[in-house]
Amino acid sequence: AEYLRLPHSLALIRLRNPPVNALSLAVVNGIREGLQKAMSDHTIKAIVVCGANDKFCAGADISSFSRSSPGISFGVVVDEIQRYEKPVVAAIRGVALGGGLELALGCHYRIAHAEARVGLPEVALGILPGARGTQLLPRLIGVPMSLDLITSGRPVGADEALKLGILDVVINSDPVEEAVKFSQEILDKPLEPRRLLNKSVPSLPNMDSIFSEAFAKVQKQYPGFLAPETSIQALQAAVNLPYKLGIKEEEKLALYLQKSGQARALQYVFFAESSVHKQSPPSVASWQTASPQPISSVGVLGLGTMGRGIAMCFAKAGIPVVAVESDPKQLEIAKKAVTSMLEREASKMQQSGRAWTKPTLTFSSSADMLCESGRFGQKTGKGWYQYDKPLGRVHRPDPWLSEFLSQYRETHHLESRSISQEEILERCLYSLINEGFRILGEGIAASPEQIDIIYLSGYGWPRYRGGPMFYAATVGLPVVLEKLQKYYTQNPDVPQLEPSDYLKKLAAHGNPPPKDWQSLAGPPGSKL
Ligand code: 3HC
Repeated sequence: AEYLRLPHSLALIRLRNPPVNALSLAVVNGIREGLQKAMSDHTIKAIVVCGANDKFCAGADISSFSRSSPGISFGVVVDEIQRYEKPVVAAIRGVALGGGLELALGCHYRIAHAEARVGLPEVALGILPGARGTQLLPRLIGVPMSLDLITSGRPVGADEALKLGILDVVINSDPVEEAVKFSQEILDKPLEPRRLLNKSVPSLPNMDSIFSEAFAKVQKQYPGFLAPETSIQALQAAVNLPYKLGIKEEEKLALYLQKSGQARALQYVFFAESSVHKQSPPSVASWQTASPQPISSVGVLGLGTMGRGIAMCFAKAGIPVVAVESDPKQLEIAKKAVTSMLEREASKMQQSGRAWTKPTLTFSSSADMLCESGRFGQKTGKGWYQYDKPLGRVHRPDPWLSEFLSQYRETHHLESRSISQEEILERCLYSLINEGFRILGEGIAASPEQIDIIYLSGYGWPRYRGGPMFYAATVGLPVVLEKLQKYYTQNPDVPQLEPSDYLKKLAAHGNPPPKDWQSLAGPPGSKL
């Protein structure tokens, strides 16, 4: 943070830490030094705080979180500013987020450009506004709006922030120039009413029900996430405790979250999302340079609902289709359906698809046998379970299935055994993770982050567990390898459980973090 003397007995503290003026230790120390200089200089009457390069501050430096706990020491600085005996005015441009907004809340006045955005997005990183944010914001704008902003993490535009009372002035010109003018006008005004720490939270008659509704809401809206609920506890402390005890509670809760696996996972996701946007595919192939390979014909296995649709799509695109269906009844239905669809499309079509019948396959797996007997799961109302109706979702155990399974075991001379929840989870997850390592080894995905972001965005993997590859590192790569080896030995007929070479290479290095995998495992083979 730079310290500058301005005309009219003013000092300027300007945060400079590209790209977003994050509060690194050096920046925080710079702010403190600036405040001390301005205090000892009797010619200085007021201080303006701003950020370089059109941004106020995007909060604590997330990249340093694994090294130190954020917020706790910065909260002390926020209090020092509040207690400061000369007026401190925040001049906000761009963003004031997280610790950036907490810094501004410590200032006695806040002036912002109309296009600025302010907010406390910490929950998205699995933490809470731990530099007094949970204690100061409710004192400024009341509990209901603080609950909304802190548990959702949503930033608000300057106009909304002005209405809520977070900002004092919104302008369309340069906020630093405005803050300089403004500082002259408030020089003689008492500072005490501007010190949030000495105010109490505006009380409401129904505070208990406001909090219980807030807990219920976040449990429904963000199931499994720790940070929103813990933030509500911190806000409760702001209401129930005097400031000096409230900040202790905030510190305790912030530390609890920062040490949680969820915070580590969500902070990984923050950087993974940003890096995935910048990545291009591995090897030479890219959307810009690659041209599509010609497709001369397509094979479709199975003419159920999806198979028919897929076969139709290619046929309509003029690509010859060979479809394979083992069940004569299903084939009849499919032929009729496909033919009538094709007839409807005939006027538009240049070529038509052909449906051929052929599966020398003999089915033996229990899953295939279920399908052969028409038990296709939810869509037919029967599968591993029976459902309330075709396409229904309410399932219950089917006595038919127990009978079927005991016959199946008898035929194949299988011993029944109970499979623990842990084994089910591990075999499902680790075979998925194993496949992730395979595609990394083959260069099909450029980085573990890409796989994780696809799982978060496309498959509903819980964000607070970071994605399957991050999860593997959480469990420990040697553990994943050992378990896969064990399950593969027990189930040699399940190729998905055979540990990939890429995983073996990495596990030989212990448990390196995902960002180091590629440099340790060497360049991928490319199948693109
Ligand atoms: N710390 C460290 N780096 C940060 C950062 C932060 N708080 N915020 C952003 N960055 C980095 C990004 O990683 C990226 O780096 P790169 O160019 O090397 O990849 C660069 O700044 C630019 O970020 P974006 O690509 O996201 O740029 P946009 O212009 O799209 O968005 C932003 C800018 C709105 C500031 C967005 O980056 C953002 O939302 N950042 C996170 C803000 C946040 O969560 N702050 C709270 C931090 S926790 C905290 O303050 C704790 C406190 O309570 C004590």
